[in-house]
Parts: sequence; C-alpha cells; structure tokens
Amino acid sequence: MDKPMEKRLLDRARDALDHAYGPYSGIRVAAAVLAEDGSIYTGVNVENASYGLTVCAERNAIFNAVGNARQTFTALALVSDSDRINSPCGACRQVMMEFSPEMIVLVDTPAGSFRSTARDLLPAAFSLE
Ligand code: THU
Repeated sequence: MDKPMEKRLLDRARDALDHAYGPYSGIRVAAAVLAEDGSIYTGVNVENASYGLTVCAERNAIFNAVGNARQTFTALALVSDSDRINSPCGACRQVMMEFSPEMIVLVDTPAGSFRSTARDLLPAAFSLE
C-alpha cells in the first residue's frame, strides 16, 4: 500500500470519527477498512446503556464491508480522539483474522501511531481449520 492510499484510508477514518457514539466512555473511535478492489468501508464505536452491548469501530467497519460483499482486506486504519485508545482490542483482532490475516493495521491516535498486521497482533489465533 502506497503512502497516498494510507493517507486516504486514515482520512476516511478521521471523517467518520464525527459519527462515533461513545456517551458512556466519552471516547470516540473510528476505523476504515480497504477492500482488495479498492473500496473503503468505515465504522465507529457504538456504545449502549447496557455497556456490554458496545461494538468497536473496527468490527463495525469490517461488518459494514462484509454486508457490502467485501471479504478480503488489504488494510485497516484506526483513529480516535482519545489517548486511551492505543491498539485494537482482542475481539477485533479475531475478526480481522477471520477475513484477512495479512491485512495491514494502521493505528493513529493521540496515544501514538504504529503499523502492524492482523497476524502479528494475534499470534496463535483461534481457527476451525
Ligand atoms: N473501542 C474501539 O472502538 N476499538 C478498540 O479497539 C478499543 C475500544 C471503543 C469501545 C468503547 O466504546 C470505547 O472504545 C472504550 O473502550
């Protein structure tokens, strides 16, 4: 993935941040996932008064893409307005592994920036194979 595409993906995630719904944690998170055909799907964290029902931005982005017939991903960008978000959670890592273990994961939050892959983020992932 070239630098302009990285920037495009991060920009799409940043644009989506306005739509995050995090009234309980006060944290806004957004993700954008790049499908192999070049299309981009976004997702935000969506919290709930019943706290455990909260769904992270990364899973919402991937589920949005899957619902639009995309199942193979090149990269995912994760952004937040919070210095408490520094890495994808375990559940989201498992969902990334389900579809594209080699996808590049770009994290850019006030807590710091880094690049990894889904596989490196979840060694020895659960699999039915
Ligand atoms: N959150 C995400 O959206 N992605 C992550 O990888 C970690 C956590 C959200 C869930 C919740 O709304 C808020 O951040 C605080 O945990």
